[in-house]
Amino acid sequence: MYTQLEQRGMAEPPVNIATLRKMKANGTPIACLTAYDASFAALVDAAGTDLVLVGDSLGMVIQGHGTTVPVTVADIIYHTRNVARGLRRAFLVADMPFMSYTTREHALDNAVQMMQHGGAMMIKLEGGEGQLEIVEHLARHDIPVCAHLGLKPQSVHKIGGFRVQGREPEAAKRMVDTSRRLQDAGADIVLLECVPNELGKAVTGAVDVPVIGIGAGPDVDGQILVLYDILDITQGRTPKFVRNFMAELDAPLAAIGASVQAVKDRSYPAPEHCFS
Ligand code: KIV
Repeated sequence: MYTQLEQRGMAEPPVNIATLRKMKANGTPIACLTAYDASFAALVDAAGTDLVLVGDSLGMVIQGHGTTVPVTVADIIYHTRNVARGLRRAFLVADMPFMSYTTREHALDNAVQMMQHGGAMMIKLEGGEGQLEIVEHLARHDIPVCAHLGLKPQSVHKIGGFRVQGREPEAAKRMVDTSRRLQDAGADIVLLECVPNELGKAVTGAVDVPVIGIGAGPDVDGQILVLYDILDITQGRTPKFVRNFMAELDAPLAAIGASVQAVKDRSYPAPEHCFS
């Protein structure tokens, strides 16, 4: 009982929402990576990663699909359960897959499954204005929520491809407003994918909750990357924001450690990884 209290005295106590908020307040970069199994989770954790996401990117990098659309709640629970066994310190977030949060009740049901059966500490959903009432409903039931804005890969068929979002001033302004409204609805983290640097900075300044970027420039509170991209396992063309840490190092643990260090010392993302 009260293991969290016992862990307070540990040299490296587990990361929780309060830790992440404190990191934002202190200006300490938050290093995040995806993981999908216990072995990689243990490596990522040992390297000092603060937050681990079981992303629906698993549909592409594990299952070999072209998009994240085919991923199911059962897939996410299976991988989250495995990742949870590999972690000691990092905060564990799991993605709500395509069409798993169409109504408030549907979202709550699936989020509960992912926390109770997967061991997730927070759920992430791709949310805009249309998801405000779902975020509010989850938050009212004490489900921690990460709201994913910018490029939303689950909407790839509606958007017409994986492309940078929020380039036009009106769209950028709307995204800043939406991030504030999501925070007010109860979101604990905002994740921003594929937006210009200026918009990453504007959203980070507009909300009190941590903002984690992927292709959102250097002026956000933390960076996340897909593990298979930084380890050069992903085949074919990777997005501009990806840095291949295996190019400089030949062991996965060293490469993962270098990626965490690069976020902490702000040498990642460099201009060549950003959309200006
Ligand atoms: O599914 C995923 O891995 C993600 C990251 C790209 C942020 O959502």
